[in-house]
Amino acid sequence: MQISQLFEKCGAHKDPITVGSVYDDILPERVEAILEIGVQGGGSMRAWCEFYPDADVFGLDVSPKCGDVDVSRATVFLGDVCDKAFLRSCIEDMPQLDVIIDDGGHVACQQQDAFNALFPCLKPEGLYIIEDLHVAKDSARQSAGYSDTITFLKMLPCSYNVTMYKSLASIRRTFA
Ligand SMILES: C[S@@+](CC[C@H](N)C(=O)[O-])C[C@H]1O[C@@H](n2cnc3c(N)ncnc32)[C@H](O)[C@@H]1O
Repeated sequence: MQISQLFEKCGAHKDPITVGSVYDDILPERVEAILEIGVQGGGSMRAWCEFYPDADVFGLDVSPKCGDVDVSRATVFLGDVCDKAFLRSCIEDMPQLDVIIDDGGHVACQQQDAFNALFPCLKPEGLYIIEDLHVAKDSARQSAGYSDTITFLKMLPCSYNVTMYKSLASIRRTFA
C-alpha cells in the first residue's frame, strides 16, 4: 500500500493528495529510523510503522495526551521541540535518522530551532522535511528575531559558504 493510502487508513492529519502524493514520490522504500515532530492522534505514526515494518519509528510532541495515543510500536518523546535540553535527551535515545519530518507547531522559531538541533542527526543521504511552509510568513510574526522559514532555508547555502570562506581565509593567513 502507498503511503498516501496509509495516511487515510491510519487517520493521519495529512491530506492524502497534496501531502501524501509528495511522500509517495520522495520517500525511500526502506529506512532504518524515522522521526516525526507532531504526533497528535498518532495517525501518521501508525502509517510509518506499517510502511516501514522494520524501522525504528520515533515521534515527538508537546501535548501530554500523546503519551496515551495508540501508536503501534513507535516511541513517543513528550516535550517542547524548543526545549534544547529535552531535544538533546531525545537525540541521545535515537540512532542516526534516515528521515525527519517536522509536522509540529508550524511556527518559524520551532521549525528553525528543531532544524538546527536535529539536522546533524540525519544520515548523509537522509531527508529533512518541513511541512506546511506556506504558513511560514505568518508564523514568523510569532517568532521575534527569526526570519520566516522559507527565507531561513534559502539562506542556508549562503551561510555554509560564509563558514567555508572564513575558514579558507584563516588557512591562507596561517600559511602566508
Ligand atoms: C498537525 S499536528 C500533527 C499531526 C500528525 N503528524 C499526523 O499527521 O497525524 C501538530 C502537532 O504538533 C504538536 N506541537 C505543537 N507545538 C509543538 C512544540 N513546540 N513541540 C512539540 N510538538 C508541538 C501539537 O501538540 C500537535 O499534536
